[in-house]
Amino acid sequence: MAYIPEHIVQQIRESADILEVVSDFVTLKQKGTNWWALSPFTDEKTPSFSVNPSRNIFKCFSTGIGGDAVKFVMEVEKLTYPEALRYLAQKYHIEIEEQELSDEEKAKKNQRESLFIIMDFARKHYQNLLKNDTEEGFPLGMSYFKERGFSVQTIENFSLGYSKNSWNYFEDEALKNKFQKNNLIKAGLILENREKKTTYDRFRGRVMFPIRDLAGKTIAFGARTLKKDDNPKYLNSPETPIYHKSDILYGIYEAKNHIRKENNCFLTEGYTDVISLHQNGIQNVVASSGTSLTENQIKLIKRFTENVTVLYDGDSAGIKASLRGIDMLLEKNLNIKIVLFPDGEDPDSYAQKLGQHEFSEFLATNQQDFITFKAEFYLKNVQNDPLKRAEAIREVVSSISKVPDRIKKSVFFQKCAELFEVAEGVLVEESNQILRRKQQRQQKQKEQEKRRADRTKNLEKVPNEKPKDSTDSLPPPPPEVDIPTEVESDFWADLPPNISPPTVDFPPENFETEQPKEDLQSGTLGELITKWEKECIRFLLLYGQNILDENIKVWEYLFEETEELEFHTDIYREILEIYKSKLADGLEIDVEYLIRTGKPEIVEVVSDFAVEKHTISQHWFGKYEIYVAHEKELLPDGLFKHILKRKHLIIKELINENTKKLAQSPSLEDEEKILRTHLQLQSVQIQLAQQLGTAVHNLIIE
Ligand code: UTP
Ligand code: MN
Repeated sequence: MAYIPEHIVQQIRESADILEVVSDFVTLKQKGTNWWALSPFTDEKTPSFSVNPSRNIFKCFSTGIGGDAVKFVMEVEKLTYPEALRYLAQKYHIEIEEQELSDEEKAKKNQRESLFIIMDFARKHYQNLLKNDTEEGFPLGMSYFKERGFSVQTIENFSLGYSKNSWNYFEDEALKNKFQKNNLIKAGLILENREKKTTYDRFRGRVMFPIRDLAGKTIAFGARTLKKDDNPKYLNSPETPIYHKSDILYGIYEAKNHIRKENNCFLTEGYTDVISLHQNGIQNVVASSGTSLTENQIKLIKRFTENVTVLYDGDSAGIKASLRGIDMLLEKNLNIKIVLFPDGEDPDSYAQKLGQHEFSEFLATNQQDFITFKAEFYLKNVQNDPLKRAEAIREVVSSISKVPDRIKKSVFFQKCAELFEVAEGVLVEESNQILRRKQQRQQKQKEQEKRRADRTKNLEKVPNEKPKDSTDSLPPPPPEVDIPTEVESDFWADLPPNISPPTVDFPPENFETEQPKEDLQSGTLGELITKWEKECIRFLLLYGQNILDENIKVWEYLFEETEELEFHTDIYREILEIYKSKLADGLEIDVEYLIRTGKPEIVEVVSDFAVEKHTISQHWFGKYEIYVAHEKELLPDGLFKHILKRKHLIIKELINENTKKLAQSPSLEDEEKILRTHLQLQSVQIQLAQQLGTAVHNLIIE
């Protein structure tokens, strides 16, 4: 997301009334000067959550969490700092003017906004038809849901709807409401028949399931046919600028707070599973919508819990294949339980069959730790066949070796040894072999990559490229870190303990071996961000497939870092989107790929990277070999260090701007706020400086 100007941040902070904000989530009762409630952060019987309206702060004594309205929203909705600001801006009707955006960027942003508005219109349109259309919506759609046992409340909660069985019913309505045709197409709601130059509704005669993002905005639809054996049974929205299938889980908006409270997430396959479980009192549930989980979906879950219970259909096709998919959850260090449903039942049908009480009991008694489940599943088919037995052991051990946590791992080895009646040592040895093979594979991959890079270098020699002089290829000197002296002030005395400064989420800095140092220091925040975007893309394309620490690939790391921030430079965002969509097809693209397939503007941008890459790889053979090796080898440290470095700069910038305000003789009240901001920023700066110190230190030792 784009940058929120500091004065707007201030305006939001000033407008947000803690009592009002908190009241949207819990019921407060006044006692003395403070207001009290049951903590929204834990399950508790006696209220330990208090709000102090005069100081405009809250404090939860159970968890120790405390702070202002922004902090509250961050915690309760699990939002980042900028996201929380946006939430409050919306609540208090504060417009966030995106000063830093160019006209083109504004258009892009407006485009997304208009897609959100269209999707919201569509949701209401379909909901209305379900309730009020006497020809189809009510008699067909509503009775279908009723037949499936969905209550009126449930239908309302999930904003279920109905689409008319007509070619242009939705389109006509939308056009009447002044929506533009091309936007309806972009939203994936109508389709264009190119030859006949006509358009038609995508969803016709289906019941509609809106898919919502983390903030509750409708971003797509799943639409189920009412006919038997109609294909496809569920028709879904296509990928759009606001809907990336692999980034979202159905039900996450409704489930997120429950997932955190229960510290567990039930994972199902279908829309109706989520809905039925909700109706049966289980609200910490999401669906992967029939596909295997993606990395980003796992990350989404990990924002709320480390514990996942996978609910398996009894008739789930290819159970072995889906077991492999779960290995990915293990790798991410999630604790996984499995519940297998009886043949022919899915969570939806079974919950409806058993009812709330019995169903919960069924879940509780049938959940099994994943490794044990897998071991038993394989054991069943082994009988006395030694070959099958060996294969089974290998399968299970391969899962165990994916568990990053050593203690957990050894517990699994023990368990598995018992089940298979083999010595634990055999399993450990097997696991070591698996790991060795994996390392060899990775090594080979690296060598191949290097060979490929060398080949391309030879093929396309960079003509007339002056060899850079030695200082150019040296890594930049360690940043100057000025650690501020101790913060001495009694402003904090006014605040509850444990209040933590806002995490200012900011773009990482370039890993710029080739750019002169002044470059980093100059420029407005907007320019710094654009540079950052460029560097992210450069890294993604040059090193995306490289493995960082803990088996994380560079692209994963970069996606994590860029997740909350929407790129505002069109071309970089476009490349990012291409990268993501190719990833969804299992392809990790690189510079060469884009040069071959990209449109001219993209080719132009990425060619620069390619040149750079080739110049760099030339140095492999030169006398600066060591430093060039560093760019790749020190990737983790490099990325890390530079992220903090850029953050540090930006904080400095923010402090500067904030301090300038003091000179404008503010009111006493404003002055207090400015100082408070100052202290918060300063404390972030201290933390950063310390981290930076360590990072630099490590770098030097190596
Ligand atoms: P299921 O076929 O198990 O459907 O697909 P279901 O959820 O039990 O649906 P009902 O009970 O028949 O209504 C599981 C999920 O896979 C996706 C949907 O998200 C569905 O909920 N799916 C399935 C599709 O996207 N398209 C399809 O054609 C089928
Ligand atoms: Mn079903």
